[in-house]
Amino acid sequence: MSRLAINGGDAVTKNWLVAKGLKKRRDLERQFLLEAYDSDVWDDWPETESQASRFAAEWAEFCGSAFCALLTNGTHTLQVALETLDIGAGDEVIVPGLTWQATASAVCDVNAVPVIVDIEPDTLCIDPALIEAAITSRTRAIIPVHLYHRMADLDQLSEIARKHNLAIVEDCAHTHGSRWRDKGAGTLGTLGSYSFQRSKLLTAGEGGALLMQDEQIYWKVVSQRSCGREYRAGIKIHSGNYRMTSLQAAVLRGQLMAFRENASLIDARGRDLDRAVDAAPGVRSLRRHKAITRQCSYMYAFLLEPQEWPDIPATEFRRALAAELGIEFYSPYTPLSHSEVYYPHSKKRHHLNKAYLGSISPSRWDLPICDDIWQNRAVLALWPVFSVAAEQVSLLTDAIAKLHKERDELRKGIRRRTNHPGKAIAALFL
Ligand SMILES: Cc1ncc(COP(=O)(O)O)c(C=O)c1O
Repeated sequence: MSRLAINGGDAVTKNWLVAKGLKKRRDLERQFLLEAYDSDVWDDWPETESQASRFAAEWAEFCGSAFCALLTNGTHTLQVALETLDIGAGDEVIVPGLTWQATASAVCDVNAVPVIVDIEPDTLCIDPALIEAAITSRTRAIIPVHLYHRMADLDQLSEIARKHNLAIVEDCAHTHGSRWRDKGAGTLGTLGSYSFQRSKLLTAGEGGALLMQDEQIYWKVVSQRSCGREYRAGIKIHSGNYRMTSLQAAVLRGQLMAFRENASLIDARGRDLDRAVDAAPGVRSLRRHKAITRQCSYMYAFLLEPQEWPDIPATEFRRALAAELGIEFYSPYTPLSHSEVYYPHSKKRHHLNKAYLGSISPSRWDLPICDDIWQNRAVLALWPVFSVAAEQVSLLTDAIAKLHKERDELRKGIRRRTNHPGKAIAALFL
């Protein structure tokens, strides 16, 4: 008789996330949205009172930033950040190998070269120990990504940046609300970039924000996001339209009201989930740097110890765990060196010359840690997992322990499932 839910046995639970611990303030979202609508101020104009100017001020205050400018999305924020720092043709920018393609695409889109560096195996963020070897006379900036359930080591990165006179643009798309030594993510680098895209902890469907501590940089961003209108930037810059609407900002204001309470809950539940993982066999939580004073995450992540799961691919572990707990578990991004969404050479704008095309070729980079994490180790759950009730968290330990105990059944089931012709074809693409 099958014991594992994936083979038709009883699941550990059918309603793991029923608690709905994370708050929503739909009432405020709707109220602010109507206020924006009725005000007739639907855009975001400098020094003009609007839902956008209010959200920008509130987001800056929540993160502890001197300035905040709202933009269209978390891709344009990176591009505008680089252009604001005057980074472009002839320059290099260091980025991690495990991230959404935007982190590197933004570098190509200003005609600079993304230099792709491997990650730490226990935090999944860029490995500071590998950065100095990647620095050349052309390097201008580092874009660390605070990926999934951890922040990149801002102490070491700041030290390296200082030593080599580099800017840091923090990519905070995954980490709204996290704090490093009690300073908000995005406030320790020269600029901090946020995304408010659909899947993120705060969302207006789309949207982005840049944080900065320097007023001159703020006005340069305001100019850049608005077709190069000079405002108080004091320079003439060619640019495009990268502005958010006040209607989006209104929704984000309502979400921020709820998020003020959710942030500490996400941090506490993340620690509980880490403890639950560490109490289970064959897996371990990510290393949490002691400087992280609050960890808020777009995805919860933990790692498999592959030697504990012989002949059981990570994909199969994730499916079996999903069947036990009734929620989806995901694999991480494909490393940029062979990502299916990172093809910078396919864009004619990047055909500057043969040397440039060669320098942006993703296959240039060998990223063994990224590859191992991607193929064999990382297990991810989207942020609603943080709504699990405190007394239900240990079901994660139970589910993993059950899979570990029934490894033989799991292994045999893989053979049975992949013998089915449809599944066998699917397996070829995993
Ligand atoms: C790490 C990272 N950086 C940048 C982005 C780009 O943000 P957007 O989708 O708002 O353009 C994303 C989006 O998922 C992301 O995950």
